[in-house]
Amino acid sequence: MPRRLGDKIAPLVGAGPGELVATDSTSINLYKVLSAALSIVAADSPGRDVVLSERSNFPTDLYIAEALCRERGFRLQLIEAAEIATALREDTAVLMLTHVNYRTGAMHDMQAVTRAAHEAGALAVWDWHTAPAPWKST
Ligand SMILES: Cc1ncc(COP(=O)(O)O)c(C=O)c1O
Repeated sequence: MPRRLGDKIAPLVGAGPGELVATDSTSINLYKVLSAALSIVAADSPGRDVVLSERSNFPTDLYIAEALCRERGFRLQLIEAAEIATALREDTAVLMLTHVNYRTGAMHDMQAVTRAAHEAGALAVWDWHTAPAPWKST
């Protein structure tokens, strides 16, 4: 359905077939992904109960994490970007970050940070907006 609708909308914005998808909002998608991640951790590694995120993460992302943590018995720990490597510990369930900081424009190295999270035994959840597709302007 997201692809089928995307293909119908595509001509209106100058996109080609397969270049557009119609999905839920970022907040709803983040809720679904973080909820699934917490279910995976609860089943596979019940000792891990910390969701790690950045203090300056997008506010609505943090509201979603706060509510899900409260509901599922996890603890939300907010840190600065420079503290991520040292904050990943044996109790980290999920590292939840946004690729580009909405205030400063600072970007995380997603590959390196995801690798560090996985090496610490945690899951990584990213709020990531892809670069615009190279649509033709004609
Ligand atoms: C990085 C980021 N995350 C989350 C959101 C929330 O998106 P929405 O309100 O469409 O769910 C936004 C909205 O601008 C955003 O820029």
